[in-house]
Amino acid sequence: MKYFAVTLASLLAASEAFTAHNFKPASLSKTSLDAVNVGIVGGGVVGGGICEILTKKSDYLTALCSDTIEVKSICVRDLDKPRDFEIPEGCSLTDKADDILNSDDIDVVVEVMGGTTIAKDVVFNALSNGKHVVTANKALIADCLAEIEDHLKKVNDGKSAEDSIQFNYEAAVCGGIPIINSLQSDFPGDDIDMIAGIINGCTNFMLTAMDRDGLSYEAALAEASKLGYAEADPTLDVGGFDARSKLKILMRLAYGIDVEESNIPCRGIQELTATDYDYAKSLGGTIKLLGVAQREEDGKVSGFVSPCYIAATDSLSSVNDATNAVEISSSNLQRTTYIGQGAGRYPTANSCVNDIVAIAKGDVNVSPFNPADDGAKFVQQYDSVFYLRLKYSDQVGITRQCGEICEKYGVSIHSILQNPRSSKKDDSFVIVTEEVSNTNMKKVVAELEGLDWVQGPAFWMPVLRPDWM
Ligand SMILES: NC(=O)c1ccc[n+]([C@@H]2O[C@H](COP(=O)([O-])OP(=O)(O)OC[C@H]3O[C@@H](n4cnc5c(N)ncnc54)[C@H](OP(=O)(O)O)[C@@H]3O)[C@@H](O)[C@H]2O)c1
Repeated sequence: MKYFAVTLASLLAASEAFTAHNFKPASLSKTSLDAVNVGIVGGGVVGGGICEILTKKSDYLTALCSDTIEVKSICVRDLDKPRDFEIPEGCSLTDKADDILNSDDIDVVVEVMGGTTIAKDVVFNALSNGKHVVTANKALIADCLAEIEDHLKKVNDGKSAEDSIQFNYEAAVCGGIPIINSLQSDFPGDDIDMIAGIINGCTNFMLTAMDRDGLSYEAALAEASKLGYAEADPTLDVGGFDARSKLKILMRLAYGIDVEESNIPCRGIQELTATDYDYAKSLGGTIKLLGVAQREEDGKVSGFVSPCYIAATDSLSSVNDATNAVEISSSNLQRTTYIGQGAGRYPTANSCVNDIVAIAKGDVNVSPFNPADDGAKFVQQYDSVFYLRLKYSDQVGITRQCGEICEKYGVSIHSILQNPRSSKKDDSFVIVTEEVSNTNMKKVVAELEGLDWVQGPAFWMPVLRPDWM
C-alpha cells in the first residue's frame, strides 16, 4: 500500500510538470524545454569570458529570459591546456566540434575559435543543423558575408519568423561597442551619410603612444603586442586590413552593399613618421587611422581605410589608447558617436552574451545584415582635402613645379608648410590641398615622385572635416 501511495504522489507531480511544459510559448524554438543550451567552440579569451559572465549573472538572466542559459559543452584544441576560467557546472570539454554541432541537446552554437577555415565549417554546419549561431569572427563574416546570407536564407526557407534560425555577431565589429545592434535597429527610418570610425584598437594605441608619448613606431608596436592589442599577425592591424574587414561589414549594414574587401582603398600606418605628427600639431590636430564610408545623393558609396588628419576640435581626435569609436552622421539623428572598448575578454564576451540572451528571449531578426540596397553602388573615388608630405633635396623651382603638377590635375593648393617646429630642421615640406578627388591626388603624387629632387616615396592622407574651411 505504501508503495502505491508514493507512486500516486509522483504521478501527480509528473502530471503538473507535464502541464507546465505544454504551456511554454511556441516561439521558443529550442530543443530543450527548460533551458537554452549553449555549446561554445573556443575556450580562449572570449570563450572564457562568456562562461564567466553567464555563471556570474545566472539568476538575473534566468529571470530576464524566463529560462536558464546553460553552457553544456566547450570545444577546445588542446584538452590538457590549463584554462584561466572556471568550467561551468554540468559542462563538458571536448576537442571535437562535431560533439556540439551534432548534439540534439544544444540550441545555440557560439563560435569564438577564430580563423576562416574550420570556423566556417562550424558556423555553416551549426546553421544546417538548426542551431542558432553567435560569432565574434569578423574575418569570417567579411570573407563570407554573401555565403552566410545565402545559407541563412536556405535554412530558414519555409520557417515562420519566430521559428527562424538566428545569426548574431555583435562582437565581430568593435568588440564591446553595440554598433551592429544599433545599425540593425536604430536607423530604419534614417539615411546614413557618413561613417567614420577608429575601429582598430592596436593602431589607435600605437598612434596615441607615438603622438602623446613620443614613442617610435617600433616601440609602440612592441608595447601593443605586449599588452595583447595586436593580432597574431600584426600586419592585419598596422596594414589597415583588420579595420577594412570591419568597415566592409559596417558598409553592408549602413548602405546595403556587399563590397569586395580588396576594392576598398586601404593604407596602414607604416609610413607615418614623427614629422607627420609635428606637422599635424602645427595644423592644430592629430592623426588617427580611420575607416570612413560615405554615401552621395546619387547612391554612390565610397569607403577607405587610411591614416587621416583630424582637427583637435573633432570628437574623434580625443579617442586615445586602445579605445574604439564609430561616428555616424545621418539625416535624422545627425551626429551620433559610439565609444568604447573594441577588444578584451569582458567587453567582447559581453557582446556575445547579449547575442545569446537575445536568442533566449526569443528576439527575432530575419535580416541580420539589413536588406540589400540595389540603388547603392560602390565607387573607389572620393573627394577630400589631402595632406601630402614630400622629402626633398634643396634646389630652385620646387614650389613652381609642385604648382604646375597640381594645376595639371586640377588640384588646388590650400597651403604649403615647412619646418613645423622652428627649432627642428627638417628635409620635408607639406602641401595641404583644397577638396579634390583621390584619383587626381594619386596622379599628382605619382608625377611628383618622379622628380629628381623628391627623396623616396611621398606620404599622403585625407583630412577629415578641416576646421579651416
Ligand atoms: N580577443 C578579443 O579581444 C576579440 C575581440 C573581438 C573579436 N574577437 C574574435 O573572437 C574570436 C576568438 O578570439 P580569442 O581572442 O578568444 O581567441 P583565443 O584566445 O586564441 O581562443 C581561441 C580558442 O579556440 C580554440 N580553438 C582554436 N582552434 C581550434 C580547433 N581547430 N579546434 C578546437 N578548438 C580550437 C582554442 O583552443 P586552445 O585553447 O586549446 O588552444 C582556444 O580555446 C576570434 O574570431 C577573434 O577575432 C576577439
